[in-house]
Amino acid sequence: MPNDLLYLIGYRGSGKTMVGRSIAVRLGWQFCDADVVLEDRFGTTIREIFAEEGESGFRAKESIILAELSLLDRAVIATGGGVVLREENRSLLSTGFVAWLTADAATLWARIQGDSTTAARRPALAGGGIEEVERLLAVREPLYRSVANIEVAVGALSPERAADAILAAWTSSGRKPSGFFSSSSPE
Ligand code: S3P
Repeated sequence: MPNDLLYLIGYRGSGKTMVGRSIAVRLGWQFCDADVVLEDRFGTTIREIFAEEGESGFRAKESIILAELSLLDRAVIATGGGVVLREENRSLLSTGFVAWLTADAATLWARIQGDSTTAARRPALAGGGIEEVERLLAVREPLYRSVANIEVAVGALSPERAADAILAAWTSSGRKPSGFFSSSSPE
């Protein structure tokens, strides 16, 4: 592994940002939300990019940002839920340790509905609703699985406990991250 990088992958609503922030604090690493970096870089929202350039326009930008982030060192990177769709992105993810946050469609849909940034940042990709989640998960789960070093079921876990599970699995994998972290933290 050339750099100390942790990628968090998983569907919308799986908690990549909150879990990623928690891990970054505990490692003393920087945290990057790839969607936020993309919006800052291109000076527009993801919703606008989808509206003006379609999903393919967004995916091209997403790959540019991921290639840049893959050069970082000592960074936790929360990726967009569709990052695994492009082969070049799946290849870039091999520059780090990849943790896949999983939950069932009903849990993800409930979390997405409870997230106030959804309307502004997340376009409907296939009509919306839990049917969209089910349909896209069917396509994406094999892709998430193909790049993941570990899989963490987050359904019943707080972000702190999900961070614990990832850090424990990472260290026991023999690809221990540099930097200080404690094996657990308060709720
Ligand atoms: C997408 C998920 C979003 C964002 C974009 C597309 C997807 O990221 O990248 O709206 O295809 O699932 P989050 O998973 O952070 O919401």
